[in-house]
Amino acid sequence: MSFRIQPQAPARPNRCQLFGPGSRPAIFEKMAASAADVINLDLEDSVAPSDKESARENIIKAISDVDWGTKTLSVRINGLDTPYWYRDVVDLLEKAGERLDQIMIPKVGCAGDIYAVDALVTAVETAMGRTKKINFEVIIESAAGIAHVEEIAAASPRLVAMSLGAADFAASMGMATTGIGGTQENYYMLREGAKYWSDPWHWAQAAIVAACRTHGVLPVDGPFGDFSDDEGFRAQALRSATLGMVGKWAIHPKQVALANEVFTPSEAAVTEAREILAAMEEAKAKGEGATVYKGRLVDIASIKQAEVIVRQAEMIANS
Ligand code: COA
Ligand code: MG
Repeated sequence: MSFRIQPQAPARPNRCQLFGPGSRPAIFEKMAASAADVINLDLEDSVAPSDKESARENIIKAISDVDWGTKTLSVRINGLDTPYWYRDVVDLLEKAGERLDQIMIPKVGCAGDIYAVDALVTAVETAMGRTKKINFEVIIESAAGIAHVEEIAAASPRLVAMSLGAADFAASMGMATTGIGGTQENYYMLREGAKYWSDPWHWAQAAIVAACRTHGVLPVDGPFGDFSDDEGFRAQALRSATLGMVGKWAIHPKQVALANEVFTPSEAAVTEAREILAAMEEAKAKGEGATVYKGRLVDIASIKQAEVIVRQAEMIANS
């Protein structure tokens, strides 16, 4: 173990992040009534350039007017390569109420991107005497983003979550795909004439999880574009959860229940984790560091694995 203890990521439910365009205020109340843990009101790519200003106004009004309950409320600003982002930040922090929890920064490419937004946010926050510090979440969705993922994860104490944005990521990487997440037709292994599909998003997800876990940030899987394909969504989400991610985006309300189901530890998983902890307690009482549970080895590392599941289940139950 390194001398440096791994920090805990924020203990808050982040199983589903539901997105909605800021230019479509008619769905804001529906978003607030959903079962998503996090709401992402969008100013970026789901909003046409001609609607940027009105979307900003809609969102600022809705932050105060809509009852968002206990959800984490986040606004996705425009990218730092656009003329819109500084006005997004300034208007949100000057005009929006204290209910706003978070700003999502898309297409980050280096730690300096976060530093720039942090400097602006800090100045406006201080000037306005805002008492609640705004958190950041970022999207890794470019070659530069994944190449610099660790310095990005370490870039600011405001940073709480990091998502993989599959579509922009694929475009930036020059990947020959048009699908947003999930199985890609041409990404297969061949054995004795049969095709076995592999996961082209796997390495980027694993890199994000490692960077996030090193710096106490929540790793989140981004969008799954085909909202008619529930099984495809579930398969992608199960892989993400297995790798250590804590949640996934919903780009349509029907994906919320799917994400919540996958990222809430099942009763069976929690029962098994508790049984492993009990078996290890017994072993410890006998002075043993390892024992057998259901015919397989469990040892001190198993305690930590089991605790991840129990802690997650308890955090969700208490939220
Ligand atoms: N949040 C909450 N409710 C939503 C919603 C959302 N993101 N998208 C649609 N709904 C509502 C609709 O208003 C409709 O409600 P109703 O039954 O009361 O009429 C219901 O859910 C079914 O909607 P449906 O007709 O299937 O979808 P649509 O054609 O209205 O919208 C999308 C489909 C994909 C355009 C829309 O879901 C959307 O804009 N998603 C988010 C896109 C986004 O933010 N992208 C950026 C991140 S990648
Ligand atoms: Mg994107």
